[in-house]
Amino acid sequence: PHTIRQLLFAPLPDAHVPVKIHGWVKSVRRQKNVAFAVVSDGSHDKGIQAVFPNASQARSLTNGTSVRLEGRLLASPGKGQDKELRVDSVEVLGRSDPEKYPIQKKELTVEYLREHCHLRPRTDAVASMLWLRHIVSNSIRGFFENNGFCYVHTPIITANDCEGAGETFRIAPDSTLAPVHSGDAAPKPSEFFGHPAYLTVSSQLHLEALAASISRVYTLSPCFRAERSQTNRHLAEFWMLEAEWAFTQTVHDVCNVVEAAIKQVLDDAADKSEGSNPWSERAAKLQAEIATRDWPRITYANAVEELASFQQATRAFHFEPAWGLPLQSEHERWLAENLAKGPVFVTDYPAELKPFYMRLNDDGKTVACFDLLMPGLGELVGGSLREEREDHLSNAMRKHGLQTDQYDWYLDLRRYGSAPHGGFGLGFERLISWVGGIENIRECIAMPRWAGRMLL
Ligand code: 4AD
Ligand code: MG
Repeated sequence: PHTIRQLLFAPLPDAHVPVKIHGWVKSVRRQKNVAFAVVSDGSHDKGIQAVFPNASQARSLTNGTSVRLEGRLLASPGKGQDKELRVDSVEVLGRSDPEKYPIQKKELTVEYLREHCHLRPRTDAVASMLWLRHIVSNSIRGFFENNGFCYVHTPIITANDCEGAGETFRIAPDSTLAPVHSGDAAPKPSEFFGHPAYLTVSSQLHLEALAASISRVYTLSPCFRAERSQTNRHLAEFWMLEAEWAFTQTVHDVCNVVEAAIKQVLDDAADKSEGSNPWSERAAKLQAEIATRDWPRITYANAVEELASFQQATRAFHFEPAWGLPLQSEHERWLAENLAKGPVFVTDYPAELKPFYMRLNDDGKTVACFDLLMPGLGELVGGSLREEREDHLSNAMRKHGLQTDQYDWYLDLRRYGSAPHGGFGLGFERLISWVGGIENIRECIAMPRWAGRMLL
């Protein structure tokens, strides 16, 4: 059996060839003699129109019912579809009480759907978002494949806080678990077999170890942050695309890779050869407006100057922009939306504003890093050259108050064949939100986790 998408995009079979489809009923319309139903298996945003030559065949179909339909695929005379299924036989696989089914046809609010995130992929919006994630991850894979990168997998359980932001979730064993061997002491609470452990906030440090041996690596991995912020761009569990590679010399080399990867994603999301999708229009517009030009780069120092002079003239910002202070989201938005009118890389931030691992510039004050800011979103990517000089790195660790013994393995990478290297991390849900024009990243992942949210 084929998926509905496969059937819809294949040439029309001969009228006498029987086809079978499986799916869930999205709507039913009954007339005196005939009945119509839209059935979707989630493979195609519009589903397929099923025509029941005898209305009684559709008797037990209600929204949400799962069915197997057998019939013939014909050219459709109706508007909005070019093929329809003329049904010969119907088999109900699972009933759905129309009074209680939570996904009614009426407009459902995003909040309501979040409460039903186990059923929300049945909606067109969430199903098509899942396909967008699929397309974007394939696109990214293709991009790195073509550029000689190895796709690797890094640990989720780790002993370090890569970003040093104190946003790690500490893991604790279930204290009711029995010891592994009789005679062993029960594991101490809050410890991983006797050692403190956390859920990873970023794969970067482990990627650096891999880049120090196989040169070019990337991964798409879950990351966890104990973020309390209730914004439309923060999750407690999100996916990050991270790449790391050796023998790169300037922060602009890293920016070039990021820019090319995102342009590739826009090209692939805008590609309509497999039929259009709800996001194709937006992706095509972004592709035409943004993917066809070079993205500007501005240093943090120059960005602050621009912000300060705009502030002086307008008093438009709530937060005063000044050298040494972090860019607030109102500043980031202004830089992308008003100054650059498109994506913009802001480079060379003061060392104190950034994590310990970024490479110190010759001025002794700033680091070789960048944030990529997008209109309507703010920060999408962060990256840098990494400090490959052991003495500079130990210095930076001390300044950031890290215990160097914890990071001895990381310093080893600088002791044995250290190489200049760099990389970046891109928030996958933020990319989906930007490409798909989806307001909140809670709608950019199937089962979102955020502070205060009950899990399922
Ligand atoms: O800027 P961040 O914190 O950088 C790092 O973690 C680096 N170690 C990455 C690297 O260089 N390998 O996070 C990178 C990106 C952000 O730009 C943002 O898009 C996303 O990850 N991100 C989040 N997305 C959703 N929810 C959150 N709580 C996020 N925190 C960061
Ligand atoms: Mg960042």
